[in-house]
Amino acid sequence: VLCWFYVFPGYRLPRDKDIVAEVLRQGDVWHKNQTGIDLYRNLLTKCCDPKRMFAVTKENSPIGKVLWYDGEIYHSHTVNSETYPLFVKENPLPLPLRKCAVVGNGGILRNSKCGKDIDQADFIMRCNLPPLSGEYVEDVGTMTHLVTANPSIIEKRFHNLVWSRKTFVNSMKVYGSSYIYMPAFSMAPGTDPSLRAYYSLTDVSSNLTMLFANPDFLLSVSKFWKAHGVHARRLSTGLFLVSLALGLCDEVTTYGFWPFSVDLDEQPISHHYYDNILPYKWFHAMPEEFVQLWHLHKSGVLRMKVGHCS
Ligand code: CDP
Repeated sequence: VLCWFYVFPGYRLPRDKDIVAEVLRQGDVWHKNQTGIDLYRNLLTKCCDPKRMFAVTKENSPIGKVLWYDGEIYHSHTVNSETYPLFVKENPLPLPLRKCAVVGNGGILRNSKCGKDIDQADFIMRCNLPPLSGEYVEDVGTMTHLVTANPSIIEKRFHNLVWSRKTFVNSMKVYGSSYIYMPAFSMAPGTDPSLRAYYSLTDVSSNLTMLFANPDFLLSVSKFWKAHGVHARRLSTGLFLVSLALGLCDEVTTYGFWPFSVDLDEQPISHHYYDNILPYKWFHAMPEEFVQLWHLHKSGVLRMKVGHCS
């Protein structure tokens, strides 16, 4: 018998169509696997120590500590008397986190009616300051405990906060009193906008708390997934959050992770639940990431919701 390996030497990702068929075959069947959950928590603790390392804190980054930008070789920031006071003292998350929901921005969420399901979790993580109000509420919920914000969003959506900060501060209100998780030390041009975002919130005594992503953590998580077969230039934000959740939560459910152009009925869907702007083709490897996450779903380590929540 000719083996796949001989026909297609090297790594080959299944086609979108085959992935949809495989997800349909599995259906809604899911069994929690406590041994698998413990195993992954231990693996992630060993490689990346999310509890201590996920954010830049006064404890892990004292004055003089060199933070190497994970997205750019040879660039670094040395913690100084201006940046040190902006860091939280230590990990502020209310550990242990019980049921966590990690919400990706996939178009599969549209008309999913998953809002109530998501809002029932004890700790809800979202990506890239997504829209949450009005028509989206029924599908994505209203609650947030941690939301990521890429410095590029500050630049594009809020004109880098060099003029008025009011629009930014007002649009942050939808995230209640959550943590804003910013990779301020991943790319050198991202540091200034991140610090401006920090001051925009603290200057008005906002309920939100800024946490800067620790570049050492991001790098160790990237290495972890590379060793598990994800070959992207850069991991997607969603996979970072899932890794954080696997390291810190008792139970993890993901929503909105579906990087394919058709849904389970093979109907076309948009890339995001709020628009159809596609990512740079070679930057992320979302389908590759999906296959890894689906493997974790099948083995009961986390639960992926990809259809309707009724
Ligand atoms: O910043 P990035 O391009 O990674 O993310 P995004 O487009 O704002 O979406 C947030 C996350 O949801 C991504 O990082 C992916 O992990 C996930 N996602 C997905 O799995 N399928 C999609 N169609 C869109 C996003």
